[in-house]
Amino acid sequence: MDRKMKSVFLPRENRGKILHAHGGQILREGETYYWIGEDRTERNKVSCYKSKDFLNWEFCNHILTLDSQTEKRFPDRDLRLDIPEQKAAIGIGCNIERPKVVYNEKSQQYVMWMHWEMPGDYKLARCAVAVCDTIDGDYTYLGSFNPLGYMSRDCTLFVDDDKCAYFISAARDNQDLHIYRLTEDYLSIESKVCTLWPGELREAPVMFKRNGYYYLLTSGCTGWQANQSSYAYSRYIDHGWSRRFELGNETTYQSQPTGIIKTDNSLSGEAEYWYLGDRWGGSGEAYFQSEYVILPLLFLSDTSLSLEWKAEIEYEHFIYHGR
Ligand code: GAL
Repeated sequence: MDRKMKSVFLPRENRGKILHAHGGQILREGETYYWIGEDRTERNKVSCYKSKDFLNWEFCNHILTLDSQTEKRFPDRDLRLDIPEQKAAIGIGCNIERPKVVYNEKSQQYVMWMHWEMPGDYKLARCAVAVCDTIDGDYTYLGSFNPLGYMSRDCTLFVDDDKCAYFISAARDNQDLHIYRLTEDYLSIESKVCTLWPGELREAPVMFKRNGYYYLLTSGCTGWQANQSSYAYSRYIDHGWSRRFELGNETTYQSQPTGIIKTDNSLSGEAEYWYLGDRWGGSGEAYFQSEYVILPLLFLSDTSLSLEWKAEIEYEHFIYHGR
């Protein structure tokens, strides 16, 4: 019952290979957790794994690869995933970073948004979209573009209670953070609804909602080096954001935010929120040793968050008890 896992770890999956789902997210569907993130081994770009206990992770699929099917559904999008004449710093092909997947109830499809760059540099700063009928199937790549013409780097997705979805990404060479509302099918940008912290260089956005408050976690902008993350809150997604407050220590315990895992406390039935971060190894081969960090997010009040260091956490928290 009190089996513990390390809060910083790099697990192996059922085939004995390292689980590569960096810059990713862990979603729960029923009793099953799906871990989706960057996999830059071979011709892979995004992979999906599943688990019911956080201890045993089963490989599902390389859901986006350089060989994924592409579809020209939008005339202004670039369908290239591979540019063989350019050398990438990590792996091969274009840089696909921070992929996030949400489910669209209307279309009954899973929609992935991600950060896209040419293999050799970060100059084009685009987002990209892919879509699939199942969470762990072969996604169809719909191409990359600049949202409403803006630069777009570190990014995330958020679906509100009314099923309206939002794409949040770093714009203007990372100077500003934009919140965009998506169209009903979640495949395009409808409008920009908010610009946050102009000139403050925020990266690694993660958004979630609790007790009617929106929260936005972000890191500073120091590449693969960890820095002080912060959180802000608001009653409204498009205005009223608080100033930023520090989260964790000056390196966010050597990590950069990438997701929130929501679980139910088996005793109280209360929702628990866990921080998911990346402890990046760096560029080149070191990237493949990047570890994951999972730590509890504590709410001292609706507007006061704390991320405390813990070397170990109990697996029991992640076992779904049917609420
Ligand atoms: C980080 C960013 C990562 C990756 C890295 C490259 O700041 O969050 O996703 O882009 O820079 O240096």
